[in-house]
Amino acid sequence: MKANHQLSFLFFYSLLYQKILFGLECFCSSDCPDGSPNETCYTSYKCFAAVEYLEGTPTKVHQYGCTPPKFEGGIFQCRQKHIQHEVPMVFKCCDDQPRCNENLILEIPIEEQQKYEAVFKEHKIFQRRQVGLVVSVLLFILCFSLFSSYFYLSALKIFKKSNNSSEVKLSPVDKSENLTCNSGFNGFKSRLVQRSFARDISIVKEVGRGCFSVVYIGLYQSQTLAVKIVDESDEYSWQREQHFYTTRNLGHENILGFIGADIVERGTVIRVLVTQYHPFGSLYNFLRIHSYDFKIFFRLLYSSVCGICYLHNSISGLYGKPAIAHRDISSKNILVKDNLECCISDFALAVEENPDEFNLVPSKAKLPNPRYMAPEVLENPSCRNQTVFFYQKADMYSFSLVMWEILLRYEIKGVAEPYRLPFEEYVGFYPSINQMNDIINVKKLKPVIAKKHILSSSAQSIIKSMNESMKYSAMSRSSSCRLKTNLNKYMQKIAKLTETETGGSNNKR
Ligand SMILES: Nc1ncnc2c1ncn2[C@@H]1O[C@H](COP(=O)(O)OP(=O)(O)OP(=O)(O)O)[C@@H](O)[C@H]1O
Ligand SMILES: [Mg+2]
Repeated sequence: MKANHQLSFLFFYSLLYQKILFGLECFCSSDCPDGSPNETCYTSYKCFAAVEYLEGTPTKVHQYGCTPPKFEGGIFQCRQKHIQHEVPMVFKCCDDQPRCNENLILEIPIEEQQKYEAVFKEHKIFQRRQVGLVVSVLLFILCFSLFSSYFYLSALKIFKKSNNSSEVKLSPVDKSENLTCNSGFNGFKSRLVQRSFARDISIVKEVGRGCFSVVYIGLYQSQTLAVKIVDESDEYSWQREQHFYTTRNLGHENILGFIGADIVERGTVIRVLVTQYHPFGSLYNFLRIHSYDFKIFFRLLYSSVCGICYLHNSISGLYGKPAIAHRDISSKNILVKDNLECCISDFALAVEENPDEFNLVPSKAKLPNPRYMAPEVLENPSCRNQTVFFYQKADMYSFSLVMWEILLRYEIKGVAEPYRLPFEEYVGFYPSINQMNDIINVKKLKPVIAKKHILSSSAQSIIKSMNESMKYSAMSRSSSCRLKTNLNKYMQKIAKLTETETGGSNNKR
């Protein structure tokens, strides 16, 4: 017994000695200090063993190793035998012999395991649900973005299509001169902002103006266009003109080519009409500075009649058109194209035979140019209820005066008459309706025809046609299409005579 006690003492003191000398030897796994040999570590305090769940998993891990020195956290570590965390853990220390922890088999209490595993499962499901939710939200966002992009692009496409086909961008114009004209329109300032159709056209310069409009050259993707900006007070003209261009099938080589119409806003409402641009401008502008041989004389004349005949005629069928009267035929409302053919423009006062609002002359509409008014119109200029046929006859009278203007510049033996407006010598530049009524219906005057034209056999034929259109009695006047047929018949005969009279081509332009 004594010997046993002595042996125990010896063992204890040798351990103490060893511990003081080298430190206590412990088994270590997964928590060994760097460079520890054979899963061994040494501590001045105790060895430990622990079991815990690997965080976020249902996997348990066992750890073995050395605690820190007693007063550097070792004592605290060894007191936490059993930690009830979210992730349970069991911890045990020993120092009764070297590698005392090696045989410590620890286990987490069953209830805690079950509790943890239930929580873990729920957490997992919750996590899965969360992931599912996040994925669904992401998918929804993705689908939504795809759909939005698709609809946005489609809308953009339609919008661009409609822009290309019928809309204009008008870049802001900084022309701010006042307009003046004899009928009193004054002060229209063209300042535009972009909106829809008006988005892609840039205004370059002014090319003409009427009493209620200014016409500009516009640029659209380096293509030149004519942009007519109608005054706010003349809404009816814009409405009427765009109605005829857009719905009445006016696509004809001798009718001004229409491109689009739009309303632009910048403080005030500005109505815009976009058409093809013709650098020669109006027939009036052309005649003032050009004279010509028979070929051009005839071309100007015949092409104008073709335009009027197309307008006057009704075409039945799906893509037909009603009979239309222009009501404002003048050399300023006929344009000269590059090929020296004419085209009819300015349908602000037109009327059609259809029984809708456009068969009547609107009460607020401006009046046509008095200079070109037919005798019957001069007698009752504000009469609104006439038939299209009535106004077509009046058109023929107006056109007869245009014929006279064209005739003036036809050169006989290389010499033309100086240009002047019909009845300019009697009424000047801005005649009133009363003045015109006085010279047409009271004094029964007709424009004077130069002797050389009367004597010219080629001009005689045209003069005959002109006189048929200039008759006082509307019913006696030839129709535009009759005139066209007659001119057609004359053409070949006259062409032969011309060569001898003009002595070849002396084409001054
Ligand atoms: N497409 C075009 N190309 C070139 N010049 C043009 C074009 N359209 C109009 N113009 C010029 O602008 C002028 C005025 O055009 P338009 O007759 O259409 O306007 P308006 O306001 O109706 O004039 P008015 O009231 O005097 O008849 C024309 O006489 C012509 O000189
Ligand atoms: Mg005009």
